[in-house]
Amino acid sequence: MTAVRTETKAKPAADTSFPPGFLWGAATASYQVEGAAAEDGRTPSIWDTFSHTPGKVRNGDTGDIAADHYHRYRDDVALMKDLGLGAYRFSISWSRVQPTGRGPAVERGLDFYRRLTDELLEAGIKPVATLYHWDLPQELEDAGGWPQRDTAHRFADYAEIMSRALGDRVGLWTTLNEPWCSAFLGYGSGVHAPGRTDPAATLRAAHHLNLAHGLAVGALRTHLPASAQTSITLNLHQVRPLTDSPEDAEAARRIDAVGNRIFTGPVLDGVYPEDLIADTSHLVDWAELVHDGDLEEISRPIDVLGVNYYAPTVVSAAASTGTKNDGHGASDHSPWTGSDHVGFHLANDQLTAMNWAIDPSGLHTLLTDLAASHPQLPLMVTENGAAFDDYVSPEGLVNDPQRIAYLHSHLDAVRRAVADGADVRGYFLWSLLDNFEWSYGYSKRFGAIYVDYATQRRIPKASAHWYAEVIRGNALPAAAGQE
Ligand code: FCB
Repeated sequence: MTAVRTETKAKPAADTSFPPGFLWGAATASYQVEGAAAEDGRTPSIWDTFSHTPGKVRNGDTGDIAADHYHRYRDDVALMKDLGLGAYRFSISWSRVQPTGRGPAVERGLDFYRRLTDELLEAGIKPVATLYHWDLPQELEDAGGWPQRDTAHRFADYAEIMSRALGDRVGLWTTLNEPWCSAFLGYGSGVHAPGRTDPAATLRAAHHLNLAHGLAVGALRTHLPASAQTSITLNLHQVRPLTDSPEDAEAARRIDAVGNRIFTGPVLDGVYPEDLIADTSHLVDWAELVHDGDLEEISRPIDVLGVNYYAPTVVSAAASTGTKNDGHGASDHSPWTGSDHVGFHLANDQLTAMNWAIDPSGLHTLLTDLAASHPQLPLMVTENGAAFDDYVSPEGLVNDPQRIAYLHSHLDAVRRAVADGADVRGYFLWSLLDNFEWSYGYSKRFGAIYVDYATQRRIPKASAHWYAEVIRGNALPAAAGQE
């Protein structure tokens, strides 16, 4: 694998502190942690169907039980309190509260989120709710899913239901988590639910996810108190050309268009980029897809942009020198609709258990680039973290120095971005708990808290204790080996 030279490690600055009021959190998502898949009226989402389809998820794992957060949320909130978390980012299972994706809400489903929210508030932890973290009610997929325009309207109804149920106690709302993954992995490469591999459907899904976001912001704004904030979370790709060649620059432009600007363009600037349309107009008729008024809807103002970051995306024109696998999972079908000839490379050979390259400079660049292009927009790192092969020692401890090093270097990148003028308001570690890592099942552990799935016992890892120290001091402690 070709390695790319990036900036050399910055010397630790004397000031390691974060701005006063910086929000320290941890994140999870409904299907990854809740379990209780068939309880209290919940019906299957596309991830239930997908995970129960042989061959789709490693080891045949499903989210049926997951980390059993649905039943253990009280203990989990107590653990959050022990860590000193200021906020908990969770997602709501649409099919738990509106099983068919339409019609009236199921009170028992809503009650779970009411109880969870109350428990958090009582513990002094801010609830941060994501409406959609990839688990579309199966009935809506059967009716056409995200490639169907109507799904966006169904999502707006669901947003209204949730804002009525929790609007008085949840202050920060995120419409969608990583719509790139929903559209391009769900309908393009097929490595995520619903597992379709149709380029036109992928682009249609992307537009309807954007529309769903805009309609939901409208619904939320109508029903939430003025103090509540709205946001969307994007997994922006920090795209780098492998070399200085014009061909690699062109590859980077294409991946930036279909990986990032397909969302930031309409959501933040009210326009689809012309180069994206040119790259993909042989696959979809954009003039037919985007109706009059859609862009105004999609670009409704948001209060915060959520950014998820794990690793940079290094690209070249020639796929033969790189790999087809871009880190999002192997498939015969590229998720990079319209640009499937592009090659992908690792930024370096320091890898996590996901085989993602560890490169904190990418997070610094992402945040400072966003601050430069959208200076008025507050930012929040809504996910960052790493999977490693954790295990419990005979003494019952989980020692994860690699995760501590990863978090330390990435938090330092956030701190440097703030020092360089980026308005970053908070940081959420992915993840609070080990959980169901999508098509990798339970084989990848991202948690600050270890979960023994056989007993559901929780063991805070060394990184959890380290993170608690960061939160207590609102600053980075000295790295191991430093004064
Ligand atoms: C992100 C997802 C999250 C988790 C991490 C590792 O793309 O939002 O659910 O799987 O990756």
